[in-house]
Amino acid sequence: MKVPISLPEDGRVTAFDAAGRDLLFCNAFGEPYVIANQCPHAAVALAPGVLRGCVLECPFHGGKLDVRSGKPVTLPIRTPVAVFPVRRSADGWEVEIGG
Ligand code: FES
Repeated sequence: MKVPISLPEDGRVTAFDAAGRDLLFCNAFGEPYVIANQCPHAAVALAPGVLRGCVLECPFHGGKLDVRSGKPVTLPIRTPVAVFPVRRSADGWEVEIGG
């Protein structure tokens, strides 16, 4: 399923719902990435985390992850967050939701 989405400002993240999933659209200084809006550490929302380059800092305990791969960068995050393909569409951007 492809879901149209709007790109946030540079260096910002925006939470949105797509196909029943809570997702986070990240603008890593012009490069768009979509990840699940749930920290793998304690299952809280990653929004409004701080994005520095491609690294997102969780607002709860400060763990960091790479929005390109979803992989953890610093503890206490130990497991990756889900990453969803995003591509340009005729109307802007769209995310591919599996299943
Ligand atoms: S809930 Fe995100 S680092 Fe703990």
